[in-house]
Amino acid sequence: MPNQLSRRDWLKIMGIAAGSSALPFSSWAVNEKGEKILLPNNPLHQKLGKPVTAITCGAGSRGNVYGGYALAYPDQLDIVGVAEPIPIRNERYTKKHNIPEGNRFKTWEDVFKRPKFADAIIISTPDNLHYGPCMAALRMGYDVLLEKPISPSEKECRDILQLAKKNDRIVAVCHVLRYAPYFVKLKEMMHNGSIGEIISIQHMEPIMHVHMSHSYVRGNWHNSKETTPIILAKSCHDLDILKWMLDKHCKRISAFGDLKWFKKGNAPAGSTERCIDGCKIEAECPYSAKRIYYDKRTWLHHFDLPEEKNKQGEAIMEYLKNSNYGKCVYRMNNDQPDHYITNILFENNITAAFSMEAFTAYEGRRTRVMGSMGDIVGDMTAFTHTDFRTGKVTEWKQDSDTHGGGDWRLAADWVQAVASHNPALLTSTIDASIESHVMGFAAERSRKEKTIVEIKM
Ligand SMILES: NC(=O)c1ccc[n+]([C@@H]2O[C@H](COP(=O)([O-])OP(=O)(O)OC[C@H]3O[C@@H](n4cnc5c(N)ncnc54)[C@H](O)[C@@H]3O)[C@@H](O)[C@H]2O)c1
Repeated sequence: MPNQLSRRDWLKIMGIAAGSSALPFSSWAVNEKGEKILLPNNPLHQKLGKPVTAITCGAGSRGNVYGGYALAYPDQLDIVGVAEPIPIRNERYTKKHNIPEGNRFKTWEDVFKRPKFADAIIISTPDNLHYGPCMAALRMGYDVLLEKPISPSEKECRDILQLAKKNDRIVAVCHVLRYAPYFVKLKEMMHNGSIGEIISIQHMEPIMHVHMSHSYVRGNWHNSKETTPIILAKSCHDLDILKWMLDKHCKRISAFGDLKWFKKGNAPAGSTERCIDGCKIEAECPYSAKRIYYDKRTWLHHFDLPEEKNKQGEAIMEYLKNSNYGKCVYRMNNDQPDHYITNILFENNITAAFSMEAFTAYEGRRTRVMGSMGDIVGDMTAFTHTDFRTGKVTEWKQDSDTHGGGDWRLAADWVQAVASHNPALLTSTIDASIESHVMGFAAERSRKEKTIVEIKM
């Protein structure tokens, strides 16, 4: 675990990562699990005279990831307002960031009834509530940190791009993998001659069966019509990282996949509406809500629990009795595919095969890059490069943290970009990010209409 390593261990690891020279680091930071990550010193970053000020719309799980950055680096980011309809979240966020009473709002619309009072807006509302606050923010001259997906509609994505350009504002899309050292290094290796000419790539997103049940069967993203199809909700990161690493435009795409397992017809005999309703197979079901949330106390980041540990069990039980998180996974109104494959043709006839799989015991994206003079095989914590010319095998290693450490690195670059009004400090501006969303919409059309879709930007 990163928090058990000394600074020297880290420098050693990252020194290997960087090749011959170790990167200098500005400071220690922790991700939302409390694990230590290192933010590399970016020579383009300037010391700020005053912090960038921001208003958070949506103080849920992601709003708190970026809020956490402000708490760790108060000289860089100051959260001066919040819009959040759930009272306990609004209250906790207000307290954490010392937000003045007059800058607390129930809903994002209220923020924009006031004249502009900060540099930027952080949009971490649910998927179907990105477009409204983003367009309002751009109209009023705010810069934006926009959670992915940009929007569940292609037209809305394009509208946001157009308005950002017209009003000359910065919109950073939270394609956080672009900032993860693992993918940064992988991209470098793909383009520095190590594998010759890139021929093809295989990429897999193993969602992990419990993560699937939490987010896409029971949780916020269980219904594609109410939120976003899973190819965007989960895998816009993957389409984006493929396109970004190859640095080529996508020409054609085809997709297959459906919801095969989490359906009423597969409900075992003896199962009940809720896991705690006397379900006869609860003890042996891998998706038992009682085991996942109550016994093991895992996957709780969307639960609002009391701070006192001794009251948390009771609160979790309430969720199991009253929320979707307590329901049988075979009895939800979910429709997100649990297996989804996409074939992509990029410029220069490079092919990519992407699989999104719910039924794995593990997480961590697996990538294999095939080149004329070598190949690379990686799992997001390490990759192995083999040079066909010399037979030499080299390993690159990194201890994993959430999103490979990308979350706060994105926040750091975004703050700098806003402070200096320089979008070039970001690798995931809306201009750079929109094509991978268009790929996602095209994949979904291909899957539903059983056609190969041509991509035109
Ligand atoms: N970049 C990533 O890797 C990543 C990871 C997870 C989620 N996400 C995206 O981030 C966004 C938020 O996800 P989350 O996991 O934090 O969900 P969440 O449910 O924890 O947080 C969303 C918050 O928005 C609030 N909200 C709802 N309506 C609102 C309104 N009208 N005005 C203001 N706030 C409102 C909700 O009450 C909730 O607290 C989603 O779009 C999601 O897809 C991105």
